[in-house]
Amino acid sequence: MSRNWAISAEDLTQACSDFSGLDLNRLPAHVAVIMDGNGRWAKARGLPRLKGHSAGVEALKATLRLCNDLGIRALTAYAFSTENWARPQDEVNFLMTLFERVLQRELDSLEKEKVRIRFLGDLNALPEGLQQLITQASERTAKNIGIHFNVCTNYGGRRELVLAAKKLAERCVRGELDPEMIDENRFASELFTAGEDDPDLLIRTSGENRISNFLLWQLAYAEIHVTDVLWPDFDRSSFIKALMDYQSRCRRFGGLDPLVKGRIRS
Ligand code: IPE
Ligand code: IPE
Ligand code: MG
Repeated sequence: MSRNWAISAEDLTQACSDFSGLDLNRLPAHVAVIMDGNGRWAKARGLPRLKGHSAGVEALKATLRLCNDLGIRALTAYAFSTENWARPQDEVNFLMTLFERVLQRELDSLEKEKVRIRFLGDLNALPEGLQQLITQASERTAKNIGIHFNVCTNYGGRRELVLAAKKLAERCVRGELDPEMIDENRFASELFTAGEDDPDLLIRTSGENRISNFLLWQLAYAEIHVTDVLWPDFDRSSFIKALMDYQSRCRRFGGLDPLVKGRIRS
């Protein structure tokens, strides 16, 4: 397991005491999550959709804390897609204000827990106040040695790929880069996720079997766990189920199961 910086062996044992059944040596280092189903959660309770988004924030905080307790290296959460602008204006406005309010409110405790927060996406389109807060939060936590918490805001996988291609092309035109030098590593270094290893596990809540333009490049070999649980209801036990599911998989990366490989060799 990629052990967390700040957790002693005793703390970890304590924190993990009720994670029975999990192999703590085989946890994903990077978890990505498509937090879906806020609207349906609210509707099922006769509440306006916006209440679902507020409830979703609590589920995200709890998931971040769990990842931190387990020593998971990175959590990348899909908060707002490039397609979500198509929603009614009042919902979009509410979400932008919510992001701002939550970030303002949580920054001190993120700092205290040594979380390094970054926002991935085309951030120029966000309201000015939110952009300023994002810059401030990213700068303030940049040197933190704890979990990498990536919040994908106005994020789209296709946009990310196009922007990366554009940056490389511009460099080639300026004569700074030989097209022959462009390989997968160089390409990945132009993505919003530069410097982060690819997610090992993708969780999508609310039962939708699609990736909705999320991390199109980075999810190449992620294990995918889809649960019917709606995001605001996603709790400790849902997360443990996702981790157990992950641990039941055989990751071959196009090769052979190491056990089968062993048998063929012998
Ligand atoms: C996910 O929940 C949150 C965002 C996309 C911002 P939804 O708002 O998509 O909830 P459903 O899918 O309508 O239930
Ligand atoms: C994906 O959820 C985006 C986020 C969770 C931010 P959506 O609700 O926008 O996805 P679709 O429309 O069901 O594919
Ligand atoms: Mg949705």
